[in-house]
Amino acid sequence: MIEHKETNNKYNTEMELRQKGEIFRLFNKIAYRYDITNRLLSLGRDAYWRRELVRQVKIEKEHDFFLLDLATGTGEVMKTFRDVFPDYGYLLGIDLSEGMIRAGMGKFNNEKQTCLFAVMDVMCQGIRSEKINVVTMAFGIRNVSKISSALREIYRVLKPGGQVLILEFGLPQKWLKRKIYLFYLRYILPYIGGVWTGCPSAYRYLSETICKFPSHEQFSLLLEEVGFTNTGWTEFNWGAVLLYTATKPKESR
Ligand SMILES: C[S@@+](CC[C@H](N)C(=O)[O-])C[C@H]1O[C@@H](n2cnc3c(N)ncnc32)[C@H](O)[C@@H]1O
Repeated sequence: MIEHKETNNKYNTEMELRQKGEIFRLFNKIAYRYDITNRLLSLGRDAYWRRELVRQVKIEKEHDFFLLDLATGTGEVMKTFRDVFPDYGYLLGIDLSEGMIRAGMGKFNNEKQTCLFAVMDVMCQGIRSEKINVVTMAFGIRNVSKISSALREIYRVLKPGGQVLILEFGLPQKWLKRKIYLFYLRYILPYIGGVWTGCPSAYRYLSETICKFPSHEQFSLLLEEVGFTNTGWTEFNWGAVLLYTATKPKESR
């Protein structure tokens, strides 16, 4: 169990967590307090970021509309989407952490027919090509070791003309803001997150992966290399949070 590994200090680096496939266990462990911890650490801004993501969905409703939310966690993106678009087709959230999914399912008690969850890897194994209108992913792409492969899978499952929206942490571009934010990431976030959830390694992992994630330009290039067009990003909180958007061309390769 993770408690044992933490006390042995064996699994604390990002690479070890990835290699050992332990990421979802970390999330299982913090699942029961995940939403409230996010509200606390972001001072309520995380709900606003997800709402902005949903506001940028540009796909028209159609009779077999499908939204796929990757690394859905407790289903917060799907919940926000349902609040804004109550009658838009089907929503499917996939995540590796059963604990996170279980914590989210209660939010959809009245919508069990149209809001579905599955324990599955973001590599989308099992989802047929060109079936999805919109793919969303909030704070999940950082956890993926092969980002380009994940983007190729997203491209594959999207219908031509479909849209991908990815919300992710980044680092502010301006020197002073970057320094302040790095201090927060390295010393304050793991402390507060650790005390609150009892799992400091989850927050050390968060800091490490944010620092290693590609820059705004690099990530947009990755999207374009896969074949996406209309790539762009919106910055929030000094550029510490980014919303990337892109479209699969109607005439796709
Ligand atoms: C920071 S949480 C984000 C949850 C949610 N999207 C949100 O907006 O709060 C990251 C989620 O990614 C999931 N995850 C990590 N690696 C994954 C993978 N390879 N496949 C599916 N889910 C994964 C974790 O279990 C966790 O629930």
